Amino acid sequence: MSTFAGKVALVTGGSSGIGRASAIKFGQHGAKVVVAARREKEGNETVEMLRRAGGEVMFVQTDVRIASQVENMVNQTLKKYGRLDIAFNNAGVGGIMARLVRTTEEIFDEVADTNFKGVWLSMKYEIPVMQKQGGGVIINNASIAGVSTAERLGVYSGSKHAIVAISNAAATEYGRDNIRVVAICPGWINTRMTEELRAQKDADALIQSSVPLKRIGEPEEVAETVIWLASDAASYVSGGAFIVSGGMGV
Ligand SMILES: NC(=O)c1ccc[n+]([C@@H]2O[C@H](COP(=O)([O-])OP(=O)(O)OC[C@H]3O[C@@H](n4cnc5c(N)ncnc54)[C@H](OP(=O)(O)O)[C@@H]3O)[C@@H](O)[C@H]2O)c1
Repeated sequence: MSTFAGKVALVTGGSSGIGRASAIKFGQHGAKVVVAARREKEGNETVEMLRRAGGEVMFVQTDVRIASQVENMVNQTLKKYGRLDIAFNNAGVGGIMARLVRTTEEIFDEVADTNFKGVWLSMKYEIPVMQKQGGGVIINNASIAGVSTAERLGVYSGSKHAIVAISNAAATEYGRDNIRVVAICPGWINTRMTEELRAQKDADALIQSSVPLKRIGEPEEVAETVIWLASDAASYVSGGAFIVSGGMGV
């Protein structure tokens, strides 16, 4: 029997990168999948990929910074599939790498609102559904920058530390409701977010010198970790920050 037969998985930021790879894997493992993001065309591309692989899936256009849209995302999930078992709160932005003094208020708000407020809002609407159902699993995408930091990463890193903290708070508050909550901390992954890094002349040398496994990670490698954490194989895993970085930043 499939790992997630009869289960419903919601993936925010499912229109590309780690979210898309995870949505496809959830579908391949038998879950019904809800893909949420702002870009309709790319969101529907994920839906098409999953449908071609035989999965049941829908797209809900959502900006995770806006409470009414996050509430709608959860309501649409219940309307279509009647339950919510797994939430991968993955939507996030990198902002612009800049020292703290040079960071604008606009960038601060975009990064903090998407990464931290977005994860909080998602859990705010997901948790009551899981409580009523008798349990669930929430995986929040932080970053290796959520457990360490670097120059010109201060605001992004702060938002990701906040995700680790609020995930631990949720694991503490809702374990009694049989809800597991875990933060994941990927290192450099081959997605739109690292395009600029990968375009640098010295990108290969930088990766070789920073990543013990000497290569960038693929979104599917993070997705495999997400699948495991969401499955019953990880039934005693709750709280903490799960590093998926090829050894970088540990
Ligand atoms: N790539 C890395 O090296 C790396 C490392 C550590 C952590 N991460 C984290 O991994 C997550 C996914 O990033 P990625 O690497 O897969 O890059 P990506 O391809 O750029 O994916 C980011 C996703 O977040 C969505 N998103 C952004 N703002 C949103 C908003 N306001 N509302 C709803 N969705 C929003 C985007 O969709 P729309 O634009 O369509 O809304 C997109 O689907 C992020 O949280 C990122 O911080 C990435």
